[in-house]
Amino acid sequence: MKTYLVTGGAGFIGSNYIHYMFKKYNDEIRIINVDKLTYAGNLENLKDVEDRENYSFVKADICDADAINKIFEENDIDRVVHFAAESHVDRSIKNPDVFIKTNVLGTLVMLNAAKAAWEIGDNVYKEDKKFLHVSTDEVYGSLEKEGEYFYETTPYDPHSPYSASKASSDFLVKSYMDTYKFPANITNCSNNYGPYQFPEKLIPLIINNALQGKKLPVYGDGKNVRDWLYVEDHAKGIDMVQEQGRLFETYNIGGHNEKQNIEIINLIIDTLQEMLPDSDPRKKLVSKDLITYVEDRKGHDRRYAIAPDKIKAEIGWVPDTCFAEGIKLTIAWFFEHEEWMQRVTSGDYQKYYEEMYK
Ligand code: NAD
Ligand code: DAU
Repeated sequence: MKTYLVTGGAGFIGSNYIHYMFKKYNDEIRIINVDKLTYAGNLENLKDVEDRENYSFVKADICDADAINKIFEENDIDRVVHFAAESHVDRSIKNPDVFIKTNVLGTLVMLNAAKAAWEIGDNVYKEDKKFLHVSTDEVYGSLEKEGEYFYETTPYDPHSPYSASKASSDFLVKSYMDTYKFPANITNCSNNYGPYQFPEKLIPLIINNALQGKKLPVYGDGKNVRDWLYVEDHAKGIDMVQEQGRLFETYNIGGHNEKQNIEIINLIIDTLQEMLPDSDPRKKLVSKDLITYVEDRKGHDRRYAIAPDKIKAEIGWVPDTCFAEGIKLTIAWFFEHEEWMQRVTSGDYQKYYEEMYK
């Protein structure tokens, strides 16, 4: 039975990944989830799995080398899947320091702990040990022309403190692979959406605001393009890369689903109106009149678009969920989890929202 150490498993993608893995492997794997539980980490996301005998949770900061080393000392870890990070670009613009700390130094701690536990000789490792570093397409910068795509060979050109911190962490992982032959992979994925996404990010923020008749903030001209992937397809890609990918390689993950932000917002409003029954009082609140153009994000990247050719050709990964279906599944999930949304948007979220959108 393989033992997985998942970092940041209480966040959006991490919790979806844990659900995906238990659905796929059931009792054949063991998962240890280590998470600091920042504002973005929520154990409620893992309610369905918390009683499993093959799941455990450790509350720890990935920057705390003693705590991380202890997990490796007490468990024979076979796979590390490293999600834990500060993930929101707008927050990184206001407060870069914590991004460098968690994303860069935290990744270094994870690499050192895994290396110390797995290395049995000079640059020689125990058999079948693998580290997967979850990264982003934002490290490649911004595409300005139609028809251009991010390939694994595209030079890094990060613009925000968030993407600079992720680029630094990618380079650290790469340096460990090159220098120490450390058994790892890097994945660079496009924008995810789906259940459990924190409503600071575009899609859940728009759904939540629209249902309350609140303004829908559009940065700049609303024509920035993001390449959206349903989160379960990302989870599937991570697992396929770790099990079937070539060690030391980077794989881009994306489903060729580019959309302008304004298109996404219009589609969410149309879909909400279609899905809400006439008897639901929120239906009257949802309206395109709520769309409000606001000041642009500083250093706002214009367009992201992943070329998934390598992962498709080498591993056979393709997404299962198209955007039209994924957005309905996401909205349906938010309808069914109104209390989850109420809980995560109380307290600190209100302060963040007022500060961010004042
Ligand atoms: P998230 O913000 O929802 O979750 C991050 C998780 O990490 C939270 O549970 C948080 O508590 C935990 N965490 C933060 N700092 C920590 C620390 N110091 N120690 C331990 N745990 C800590 O993020 P997400 O959207 O799920 O992203 C997960 C990973 O995927 C990140 O590395 C991100 O860069 C990458 N990624 C995200 C997207 C996306 O669209 N969201 C796309 C590509 C890649
Ligand atoms: O591309 C992958 C990245 O996608 C991940 O690495 C990041 O962790 C993740 O947060 C996401 O970054 P973005 O900045 O692209 O996502 P966000 O949801 O914050 O914004 C998406 C687009 O919508 C972006 O062009 C900014 C715009 N936007 C966002 C918000 C929150 C708005 O117009 N209004 C808003 O209120």
